[in-house]
Amino acid sequence: MDLYELLTSRRSVRHFENRPVEDELLNELLDAAANAPSGGNIQPISIVVVREADRRATLAEIVGDQPWVRNAPVSLVFCLDFHRVGRWASLSGVEFRGHEAMMFFLIGYADLMCAAQTVTILAEDRGLGSVYVGTVIARTQPAARLLELPEGVLPLMVLSLGYPASRPSGIPKLPRDVISHDERYRVSADEDLVAAFEAKYGPIDDNVEKYFERAYVEVVEADRQHDDDWTARAQHRMEKLNIRNSAQFLFELRYPQDMMVELNEELRGDFGRAGFRFPGFSSGEEPADNEGNAAR
Ligand SMILES: Cc1cc2nc3c(=O)[nH]c(=O)nc-3n(C[C@H](O)[C@H](O)[C@H](O)COP(=O)(O)O)c2cc1C
Repeated sequence: MDLYELLTSRRSVRHFENRPVEDELLNELLDAAANAPSGGNIQPISIVVVREADRRATLAEIVGDQPWVRNAPVSLVFCLDFHRVGRWASLSGVEFRGHEAMMFFLIGYADLMCAAQTVTILAEDRGLGSVYVGTVIARTQPAARLLELPEGVLPLMVLSLGYPASRPSGIPKLPRDVISHDERYRVSADEDLVAAFEAKYGPIDDNVEKYFERAYVEVVEADRQHDDDWTARAQHRMEKLNIRNSAQFLFELRYPQDMMVELNEELRGDFGRAGFRFPGFSSGEEPADNEGNAAR
């Protein structure tokens, strides 16, 4: 398939055939990851391959009971790895303070996602499907225990892979002209902005199942693979919260804003326990700059 077509038709796959990924293909994916771009070419990443059924099940539970992590034949856990870099520096008689530097952290996370996305694209090209599972970010401690990660190694993304048993269709996206700007940022009019999201998600009408097929495909797929009634529970919460539009659905039901902000504390604690602390990177109010603008 032409690469443009492959990339514009790619969709996250959460339903896999019961068929292993060949070692040779897995090695190709890992080679591609090893050759991904990297800030300063430092490559502070490690990828833990999880294939044993009981460990896949434990990982699935850790990341919020996501059945595709259990059912996919392989999951790659992408970790930010300052353990290896730090030890190398130390053995070379050099100080490395990556675990204290937000800049190293952000560049390292960008590296990690470059590697993960490189794998995603090659996997797609080779007939596999994949899905990212980012909830591991909030479960780094149990994931680290499962994978026996040393201090300085932080598991920040799971990519579950396998041969697709089905692929979702009709997943909505914002079009090119909404996300791109010509030379300068174009601030859209309120009505255009709202219309773009309405066009993306469509209305929440009486047919909530149809809406979920577009906007909450995870619960639809989870229901197919799990005995719990995720869709019914989500529907119940929609009624309880009186969800009427997609923004409300996203920011009140799926990602309640208080909960997301409260996670800061938890992440700070978990990251700290893994050796990542950022002195001076305050979570409080920042002073205005000398033109009176709040820090941004
Ligand atoms: C950072 C990130 C985290 C994600 N986490 C999850 C996850 O925890 N579970 C899941 O089923 N999908 C997850 N996804 C997949 C998204 O749900 C998916 O990309 C999105 O719905 C768009 O669909 P598409 O990939 O088919 O285009 C994640 C994707 C990204 C980029």
